[in-house]
Amino acid sequence: EVYYFRNEFLPKEDVRISPEDRGYYFGDGIYEVIRVYKGRMFEAKAHFERFKRTALAVRIPLPDMGELEAALQELIRQNAVEEGSVYVQMTRGTAPRAHNLNADTPPVVMAYCQKLSRPVDKMEKGIAAATVPDTRWQHCDLKTLNLLGNVLLKQKALDQGADDCILHRDGSVTECSSSNLFIVRDNRLVTHPADNLILPGITRNVVIRLAAELELPVEERALTVDELLGAQEVFLTSTVQEIVPIVTVDGKAIGGGTPGPVTQKLQQAFERLIL
Ligand code: PDD
Repeated sequence: EVYYFRNEFLPKEDVRISPEDRGYYFGDGIYEVIRVYKGRMFEAKAHFERFKRTALAVRIPLPDMGELEAALQELIRQNAVEEGSVYVQMTRGTAPRAHNLNADTPPVVMAYCQKLSRPVDKMEKGIAAATVPDTRWQHCDLKTLNLLGNVLLKQKALDQGADDCILHRDGSVTECSSSNLFIVRDNRLVTHPADNLILPGITRNVVIRLAAELELPVEERALTVDELLGAQEVFLTSTVQEIVPIVTVDGKAIGGGTPGPVTQKLQQAFERLIL
């Protein structure tokens, strides 16, 4: 397995991360997960734009993005990945532990890619979700390594026998542990606005685009937990999972407990983009 680390391609065993890496101490870094279909990165431009936006917001200097993109494509080639994902992260670099920003250390970029099939079974059958209060911080729009909140909330759902959590804050449904959430109501899609309380998902944007093509109205607005529970359909979106129906919420069946027609239409439209 070949990794990309500090501008070099090398075996995983040879990656040496310092105990003083700020990613390790503080989760002080950013990342992207990009899908690979037919050996190519899907929606690469959008992922690199979000990477740049997050880097700027957390004040980590950017590498040459053209070089980084070329390196990731080379990584895919060296690992012979046709269908899979690329993970790329950049930490603020290595410095003795201190809470201020250490402006003069170079960031550390690390990337790997893996083979990963599409979650066909979940896409066909749907999953169960549990509602959980969203206790994360106020910068959920930034794709940073600080994911302990997400990890604990996902585990809370798993402990209740569900597959994932649906998060809500001040009465509004935000997103899931590592995906965005949509409901179908009166044959319209409703999803939380892309503000500081959710990650602006690339797949979310693809779905909004597909909805326009299918002449399905989309409302980006706060939606309540009651609306969620009374929805015709519910589904999540992410790079890794694509479009997955949520067929029960807190044990209550959504739309008869099977994937609904609007979700399936969007899944088919998504498939046409990637196959
Ligand atoms: N997760 N919301 C959160 C909190 C996420 O972590 C993600 C992605 C998404 C969906 O974004 P996108 O469609 O751009 O993948 C929404 C990635 C896949 C992860 O952390 O593994």
